[in-house]
Amino acid sequence: MLIFSVILHELTATMKPVIITIDGYSSCGKSTLARQLAKELNYIFIDSGAMYRAITLYFLRNHVAVTDVNEVNHALSNINLAFIFNPLTNRSDIYLNDENVEVLIREMTISEAVSDIAALKEVREFAVAQQQKMGEKKGLVMDGRDIGTTVFPEAELKIFMTADVAVRVERRFKELLHKNPNITVEEVKTNLEMRDYIDSNREISPLRKASDAIVLDNSNLTSEQQFNLALSWANEKINAR
Ligand code: CDP
Repeated sequence: MLIFSVILHELTATMKPVIITIDGYSSCGKSTLARQLAKELNYIFIDSGAMYRAITLYFLRNHVAVTDVNEVNHALSNINLAFIFNPLTNRSDIYLNDENVEVLIREMTISEAVSDIAALKEVREFAVAQQQKMGEKKGLVMDGRDIGTTVFPEAELKIFMTADVAVRVERRFKELLHKNPNITVEEVKTNLEMRDYIDSNREISPLRKASDAIVLDNSNLTSEQQFNLALSWANEKINAR
């Protein structure tokens, strides 16, 4: 047993890290899977959606006129984003100019505005440049909408996640109900469909499956089945390096 774990440790130490991208529709469970994979592989996990949500929070608070390029650029120059580990939750929280906004950015007011703000060219360039920097050393799992197509087109493993709309609405509704007992299924469904529409139809980096991405439909998979499947794909790519 000891010999086995020593060999395993040596093997892991010599393996070259890869980049794993997980893209897909709203509320597919992308972040959950990305977080699980990162933990198992000892990789960094980045929720790129949290960055767009934090930018949206700043824009709403500061009443940034999104039709005015100068105003948008000025706002972006005042935004500093960072992911900082929270020992209480064992997860990284997103900070907007030194303020922990991890909880605030999940509110419906942000979900309602984020896709329009994320469609702006200046906003995308700002976020993508930071995301690409995070992947310079590889050993990273990032989830979002354009990670396999635009941010890391050369990533070793690309997963495109999808699930039936009813399943996704139910999942997100349950998640949000904890924080907001007044939320309705209809409200969640409308927001999900609206974001999917805007994200898929925007001009710059629309939500698309990369041609070399593996489709993962998790409508009928348990979290464990999905994780084991994705981990086997990841190990294949890691062993091939
Ligand atoms: O958790 P959920 O899938 O609902 O959304 P999210 O990952 O938190 O992303 C929120 C929004 O940010 C999306 O609906 C997109 O409009 C935008 N986004 C994007 O444009 N590109 C990314 N790489 C990630 C998110």
